[in-house]
Amino acid sequence: MNPRWLAVSVLQKVGRGKFAAPTLDQALLRHRLPRQQAGLLTDLVYGTLRRLHHLEYSLKPNLKNPSSLPDGIRWLLYAAAYELWFTHRPKHAVVNAWVGVAKRLSEPHAGLVNAVLRRARLDQGAPAAVKLGIPDFLYQEWSSRFDDLSWVEELNEPSPLWLTLYPGGRELLQQQGVSFSDGPLPDSVRLEGVPLREVEAFRKGLAQPQNPSSLLAAVLLGAGEGELVLDLAGGSGLKAAWLAARGARVLSVDSNTRRQQEGRKNLERLGLNVEFLTHDIAKPLGRAAPYVLLDAPCLGTGTLRGHPELRLRLKQQDLSRMAALQRRLLETAAEATEPGGVLLYSVCSLTLAEGEKQIRDFLSRHPEFEPSPLEPPLPLLERGAGVYVKPTEGLDGFYYARLQKLS
Ligand SMILES: C[S@@+](CC[C@H](N)C(=O)[O-])C[C@H]1O[C@@H](n2cnc3c(N)ncnc32)[C@H](O)[C@@H]1O
Repeated sequence: MNPRWLAVSVLQKVGRGKFAAPTLDQALLRHRLPRQQAGLLTDLVYGTLRRLHHLEYSLKPNLKNPSSLPDGIRWLLYAAAYELWFTHRPKHAVVNAWVGVAKRLSEPHAGLVNAVLRRARLDQGAPAAVKLGIPDFLYQEWSSRFDDLSWVEELNEPSPLWLTLYPGGRELLQQQGVSFSDGPLPDSVRLEGVPLREVEAFRKGLAQPQNPSSLLAAVLLGAGEGELVLDLAGGSGLKAAWLAARGARVLSVDSNTRRQQEGRKNLERLGLNVEFLTHDIAKPLGRAAPYVLLDAPCLGTGTLRGHPELRLRLKQQDLSRMAALQRRLLETAAEATEPGGVLLYSVCSLTLAEGEKQIRDFLSRHPEFEPSPLEPPLPLLERGAGVYVKPTEGLDGFYYARLQKLS
């Protein structure tokens, strides 16, 4: 199967609302492409999504009415323009390859594709937000908070593969001869050039894909052996698993039963014990513990590297909606924290409304909590009541606050 043809098909599905990673994985699994072609397909899908704003902007002058084009031809033009402008492959061969795909997809549009690809140029004078590939509202916030936005451009680079290792995982990687390097946290490693599905430690559940910034939330909680932890918005229990492996007793709470089901299977494979409870934590929980982790739902602006399709979906109005939800979830988390206990709040987003402002407002409503200083071993963007991790060197951007409840 032709990887360019497949790229258009994956991009169309993502354009209709599917997540990029699982949609691409399905295509890779079904068609079993040789490694080089699989690499081309992956690059075309991720690269096009990362650069979409800049591609659309640059193609516009050459397309009278892009929305009147068939969906497949529009995505074909974006993917072809990405390959022409952002890779070093020979231009002539690239244009010919895409015209060939256009002929199969919609013969009457092949002439237009040929003409546009030969005429159009990447517009280097595009506005900064367009070149960085972020919506205006984010650009406005980030450019007013930070003098240097080079880390935003770094979010346009391919995402490395990070694994969190469980006992036996490191040895299995070594036995298999997989090349990896140590990450910034003790159980975290970075894989070099091996597809995840070929990694035996992953197949056996001893290595879990997880960005170090995500793992850090569980590390910063500081729960020791035998301590009770409430893992709120715990999803499939990735953080719960790490905590349980260190001897904590964990109750993981989420409203998504499907994710929890996946989590149960995973924990079984790891031989770890975590209790799951399906509950809407916008409502009181009726349970309390000395350690509470709230890894709240968020806009995900710190994860654009691994989730490039978020760029299509980020809307300013979602920011206030998300902040209002986080505020409610924080109320449940506050009530569930025992006096003298710790509440760790984290989001994989770098906005003020979801991070520092959210926590400042919380602290003014809850004088019984005070922030404890954090010194994580990851690069920081900004400090306040909590800290923002800088999404550089393959790390996701996160905000964390560790709040101590007075006795
Ligand atoms: C950032 S994810 C958490 C990921 C998880 N902690 C992990 O480490 O993989 C946010 C989670 O919040 C859950 N969620 C969203 N709204 C919720 C609600 N009202 N009650 C319970 N869970 C909710 C989602 O199902 C999702 O799993």
